[in-house]
Amino acid sequence: MLCDSLQLPSIREENENMRGRSVTPRRQDMMPSPSREIFRQTRPLTKTPKSLKTTKIASKEKRRLKKMGDNVKVAVRVRPFNDREKQRKAKLIIEMEGSTTIIKDPANMEAEGRKYTFDYSYWSHDGYKERDDGYLEPVDGRYADQAHVFKDLGRGVLSNAWQGFNCSLFAYGQTGSGKSYSMVGYGENKGIVPVTCEELFKGIEEKKLTDDQEKEAEYQVSVSMLEIYNETVKDLLNPSSFKKGGLKVREHPQKGFYVEQLRISPVRNYSDIEARISEGNFNRTVAATNMNATSSRAHTIVAINFAQKAKNDAGKSMTKTSIINLVDLAGSERADSTGATGDRLKEGSMINKSLLCLGNCIKALADKQLGKTTAVPYRDSTLTRLLKNALGGNSKTIMIAALSPADINYDETLSTLRFADRAKSIKTKAIVNESPTDKLIREMKEEIKRLQDQLKGGGTGGVVIQGIPQDEVEEMRRQMEEELKKNQQEMEDMKLTWQQRLKEQEEGSLKMLLEERNKQEARKTTPHFWNLNEDPMLTGMIVHFVPAGKHILGNSDPADIILKGLSVQREHANIVNKSNSVIKIQPKGTVLVNGKTITEETELRHNDRVMFGSTHLYVFHHPQDAAKQEKEGTNIEKVSFDSAQQEIAENKGFDMGTKGKSTEDLLLQEDLLRIMPMVNEANAMSEELDKKMKFELALLSPQARGLKDGKTEVLIKAKNLENGNEFLWDQNKFINRKYIMQEMYQNYSEGDDDWDYEKEKDPFWEPVDSSVMIGTAFLYLQSVAYCVEFDEMIPVTDMAAQEKCKLKVKAIPCDQKGIPLNDDTFVEDPKELLNTAFRFKISIDQCLGLPRKYAKVWCRYKFYFSDEWNTSEMADSDTLNPNISYEEMFTADPVTQVFIDDLQETPLLIQVWGRQKPGVLEPSLAKATTKELFKIDPEKLRYLSQDKQQTKTKAATAAQKKADKKDKKADKNAAKSKVTSNDKDKDEQIEQLKAEIERLKIAMSNNSSSNNIRVGDLGFADDSSDRKLRMLGSLVSEARNKNKPVVLTDRVDSVLRTGQDLSPNRIREAEVNAAMGSGNESGKSKVCTIS
Ligand SMILES: Nc1ncnc2c1ncn2[C@@H]1O[C@H](COP(=O)(O)OP(=O)(O)OP(=O)(O)O)[C@@H](O)[C@H]1O
Ligand SMILES: [Mg+2]
Repeated sequence: MLCDSLQLPSIREENENMRGRSVTPRRQDMMPSPSREIFRQTRPLTKTPKSLKTTKIASKEKRRLKKMGDNVKVAVRVRPFNDREKQRKAKLIIEMEGSTTIIKDPANMEAEGRKYTFDYSYWSHDGYKERDDGYLEPVDGRYADQAHVFKDLGRGVLSNAWQGFNCSLFAYGQTGSGKSYSMVGYGENKGIVPVTCEELFKGIEEKKLTDDQEKEAEYQVSVSMLEIYNETVKDLLNPSSFKKGGLKVREHPQKGFYVEQLRISPVRNYSDIEARISEGNFNRTVAATNMNATSSRAHTIVAINFAQKAKNDAGKSMTKTSIINLVDLAGSERADSTGATGDRLKEGSMINKSLLCLGNCIKALADKQLGKTTAVPYRDSTLTRLLKNALGGNSKTIMIAALSPADINYDETLSTLRFADRAKSIKTKAIVNESPTDKLIREMKEEIKRLQDQLKGGGTGGVVIQGIPQDEVEEMRRQMEEELKKNQQEMEDMKLTWQQRLKEQEEGSLKMLLEERNKQEARKTTPHFWNLNEDPMLTGMIVHFVPAGKHILGNSDPADIILKGLSVQREHANIVNKSNSVIKIQPKGTVLVNGKTITEETELRHNDRVMFGSTHLYVFHHPQDAAKQEKEGTNIEKVSFDSAQQEIAENKGFDMGTKGKSTEDLLLQEDLLRIMPMVNEANAMSEELDKKMKFELALLSPQARGLKDGKTEVLIKAKNLENGNEFLWDQNKFINRKYIMQEMYQNYSEGDDDWDYEKEKDPFWEPVDSSVMIGTAFLYLQSVAYCVEFDEMIPVTDMAAQEKCKLKVKAIPCDQKGIPLNDDTFVEDPKELLNTAFRFKISIDQCLGLPRKYAKVWCRYKFYFSDEWNTSEMADSDTLNPNISYEEMFTADPVTQVFIDDLQETPLLIQVWGRQKPGVLEPSLAKATTKELFKIDPEKLRYLSQDKQQTKTKAATAAQKKADKKDKKADKNAAKSKVTSNDKDKDEQIEQLKAEIERLKIAMSNNSSSNNIRVGDLGFADDSSDRKLRMLGSLVSEARNKNKPVVLTDRVDSVLRTGQDLSPNRIREAEVNAAMGSGNESGKSKVCTIS
């Protein structure tokens, strides 16, 4: 019936329809927006008869729709152990039986593991061999190779795409678990993305051959590639979009969320797609290195738009479209899982926002399936907005969860399995997407015909049909016809633009293809650098050629090899290639060759690892030298990002050898390798942003953490160079802070005036009252096991095993009331205490020799057999020996053998904690930049306590007054004795100045007596030039006037030698050198302190 087909849906129903359904969609659903608009506009004119009201049908329809939909298909895949896991003999915690995956708790391997069943569980852990071409093929039926995974998942994607369904495939899992391997693949082991694309074009070619000419079939494929990093969208096929804030995500009433101005490149064949993806990866690598972004934190979406146009059997033109979204998600580990929970900035970074939100959406969608009414927070992040359809709308969706097989990743792998388990209950509702334009044309034509028939058949002239006056029907028809014309035109335009765009692009593509080919050829003969990235996908993407001649490497003009990013100077290094035989590098900024910093011209050999600044890591490829080395039989080792980092760590003094190392030591090495580059980056950012913070790696033993055994933890020492305060950050806190530092640095490098955050949000800043661990002490309790009191002073040492202070402690066996037992109650054998009730008190009386920099101090300790910490009150440390006065009694009732063993064997760990007082950096460095301060050994930086500084200032003022008085007196005396010979006069002045300078307390700013100078050393008495004397006098007065207690001997030297003071620049340099204890040609820059 006419009115049936013109039925206007209720808004709610309309929304429901828009989410899609698969069978005989109604006309309105298929209309492009203009037609919908017309229907909305005509609504007031169209009085829908009561009998046709929709409520009943709508609810029935809704129920039907609800029942429909496909579940998200979920596959999990476990990768092989990597080299490090093999080296430390990691335990395998994953088992698979059919489509079930079992995860075992490494702490309890005997126990039955947790089971999860999915659509597919892929065993790719072992049972394979590497073919000569590098492809990993199964040696038994169990191993799932790339072809197997494609067969199950990729084929389904392809077949859906051919049918006109939107498809989404996303890979989830922690960093290094194998997401990119499954999605994109490496070398011969091509993943689902390239194989799907390849197969798609193969299919097109086949179709073209077999297609019925009458059908005039046409196939159009376009590709786009984007990255979401830190909630910002970058078009990877259009580097000019890499601007601040990225591209906008907008919402279209029909299309849903989309990225505005995203480049969608038409492609004619598979190699076109391959070239686009490689171009996208290249752009991604450059951007990640320049912005010092952590690539594993980026989500990459490759979207393939596939349109098929053909005439159907009835001769009608049909367009089926399918968007295939291939999503390689960021590593799923959360930086705030443990340690950063206490940090004020734990929510500060946006780096995890999209992934957290994805988790929330999946949870909400899963809850919905259980009948809960809950809103799905798609809008909360960029990723979930763009994946809205993939997760709950018009898409056939597959998720592949990548699993690490190693024990150490148990928590993350379990969380991946839970995530995957939740995802499998989600339903999406995919519909066949016939091009709305074609559908509309067809349906409109049908509609008009029906209308005309109706009108003719009724023959009633101006009679109202089913409540609609004829003029309204005519109006509607006119609008429809107009719409029809417009749509036909739109279609023509669409076709034209695709072909035009293809043509336009082909010229560019050809050029790029040629360039790429030339580049590949040049790599065989021309020396070049190729990049190393922590993400193997981005490794080898950037190549810098060094043909014969001299090249400047730097961050801008005049450099011909341009590297942007952290710590790269304008002219960072010269590279000189002499006829491709000897290639030398002359460093100007920081350059490391094979892990060592070079300061002089150095020859580069084939396979050398070269680091420029703090993030640009390259391998040097020297074809001629390679040939030579090969001839000589040199073993050319394969270089990876990890091996290069390992080399750097070794050169920093870390023991990275693996022979005979325990699992704990090997894990520690892994942590060091992971954190060390981040510490370098953080320091480079601090330097560039002048944040006066310096970060260092620090190690904390399990014992110092109150554990009997376990692995040594890598912590980060954050030192505020302005006030001398030091803090220890755990890895999570540091990593989280580093992400915020990156955001800040990004804003800074993009020229944002507001790049600097207020103190509370500043990732470099740590409040002075943050608690810090001063050190740990061990209290041995053997004597207590013999009922003998222990009363000692025990040393408190910091992480570098330096003694910081002492603790006066007692361990006293006592009775129920806490009264110490008599001396004669001792036992000859602790076993005598077995099964009795035994009590003792631990008393921490005092801290002795506490460094002055602490304002508060307190202690805490715990027994190994207990999880609880006992914590003293916070004591003011205004003396060097603050009282702690903390006493606690312990009861063992009855005494067990374990208790006795513990008393005898395991010392009690006492941690001493404190709060620091902010110091004041020595005045000569007050204005030094972070860069200048970084050149000084942090141990040599001196800080005055604020109180001391005030006292010093007062003392200096008093001394000055006294000296002024004396000067005046001397002047008076001089005036009185007018008549003296010139020489005598000068001698007197010399004596006066000598006396003055004698008053200069001679000391280095770092108080090293070996660097002190004496007046006699200056050669002062030998020179009697008036000018020099006057100048020396003015140096002393200047120091006094500025309330500066020091005079630089470089300046005194300069005056004595040349009669001139140093230039302001040299003065500044000498000040820095003085503080560093290094410097001028005479060996040391020195300062004389004015008493
Ligand atoms: N199924 C597999 N078979 C063989 N090797 C694998 C497999 N899966 C992953 N690998 C290897 O493991 C390493 C890490 O894999 P991949 O780069 O895919 O991790 P990822 O999850 O993408 O990590 P990121 O989050 O850092 O991007 C690679 O060297 C890869 O070759
Ligand atoms: Mg990856």
